[in-house]
Amino acid sequence: MGESSGTGFVAGLEDVVAAETRLSGVYGEAGELIIAGFPVEELARRASFEETAYLLWHDVLPDAGQLAHFREELAGQRNLSRATLDLLRAVAAEKVPVMDALRMAAGTLSPGTDEEEALALVASLPTIVAAYSRMLDGGELVDPDPELGHAANYLYMLTGEVPGAELTRALETYLSTVSDHGMNASTFVARVIVSTRSDFVSAVVGAIGALKGPLHGGAPGPALDVVFEIGDASRAEAYLREKLGRGERLMGFGHRIYRVRDPRADVLAAAAERLYTTDGDTELYELALGVEQTALRLLAEHKPGRNLQTNVEFYTALLLHGLGLPTQLFTPTFAAGRVAGWTAHCSEQRALDRLIRPQSLYVGDKDRPWVPLEER
Ligand code: COA
Repeated sequence: MGESSGTGFVAGLEDVVAAETRLSGVYGEAGELIIAGFPVEELARRASFEETAYLLWHDVLPDAGQLAHFREELAGQRNLSRATLDLLRAVAAEKVPVMDALRMAAGTLSPGTDEEEALALVASLPTIVAAYSRMLDGGELVDPDPELGHAANYLYMLTGEVPGAELTRALETYLSTVSDHGMNASTFVARVIVSTRSDFVSAVVGAIGALKGPLHGGAPGPALDVVFEIGDASRAEAYLREKLGRGERLMGFGHRIYRVRDPRADVLAAAAERLYTTDGDTELYELALGVEQTALRLLAEHKPGRNLQTNVEFYTALLLHGLGLPTQLFTPTFAAGRVAGWTAHCSEQRALDRLIRPQSLYVGDKDRPWVPLEER
């Protein structure tokens, strides 16, 4: 859908530039993603989550002293307040979905300065997700360990076991890969909220709501479900053809901006390959690759010329499953990575201090006569 003739209205705001940013550049035709100056392939393979968050917030990599200080600051903000834990317990009793619990719990964080709220949000989102996940499973909560880095501590709070270097590296790679991505829907929401001079906590609560949708961050769970339902590569074609025949979209494929393969898919594919081929379920990995190839072939037939390719969500699903995360934690874990970008965008928007207030085109009637109730 493009511009509606001559009115200036563009459905989905496609190609509309809504901000200038130093945080990330998405080059759809070339299939490139630059995060604060670094190609995603370069950053995600090497950076710890703390380095990426610091880079996004300060536009420079931290030196050793700055990194140690930042790690300590973040680790100091991981514990949840009584109010947050009480809320999580109450909603766990109702088996509220994890993204909804995360949205509600993020809203309980105490108001502070922008910097304090950004730190609290980035530090505590993983604690909220891990605590809630254990509540749902009826397990004891695992307190955060300030000695562990952000990624390792997340896995520790989820499982109760300190993860090895391989698992930690895979999660660091994932979190950095998804830390920022141009003017995606949830980031736009966050910027709109801050543009009203509202607070960062409100902005992130709104962003979590946007991320939850299946066209944004909600795709990886369904993408993996498809792989499980197919179960055997020989069934992939019939299964996927039927889905497309019903007019359904294949989750994990296609992108609004990328017209070639999503570069994040390659980064996560390489990380997933390392994870599965060293110590994982190689059968599942092979099956997923087979499903991907079949899906790409059928999508090329289904929408010739559109070049629908694998997006970040397909390999997110495989990687996070390989890390031992259940499907319902995929999107919340995406939020735990993207919150670094959301808060950095909030700061950019705060500095700009310009209300985001586009126009709408009224297409309704203009001269309806009022009809009394008894005559309607
Ligand atoms: N499966 C089947 N068909 C798809 C498709 C998919 N994954 N992605 C796009 N299409 C179809 C659309 O239905 C559309 O068909 P139409 O012209 O008959 O309506 C056509 O391809 C062009 O779509 P396009 O305009 O390029 O897509 P978009 O910009 O509106 O949507 C997404 C982009 C990401 C929302 C879309 O590709 C999608 O829904 N993908 C699946 C969900 C997903 O993986 N989301 C995570 C994104 S990171």
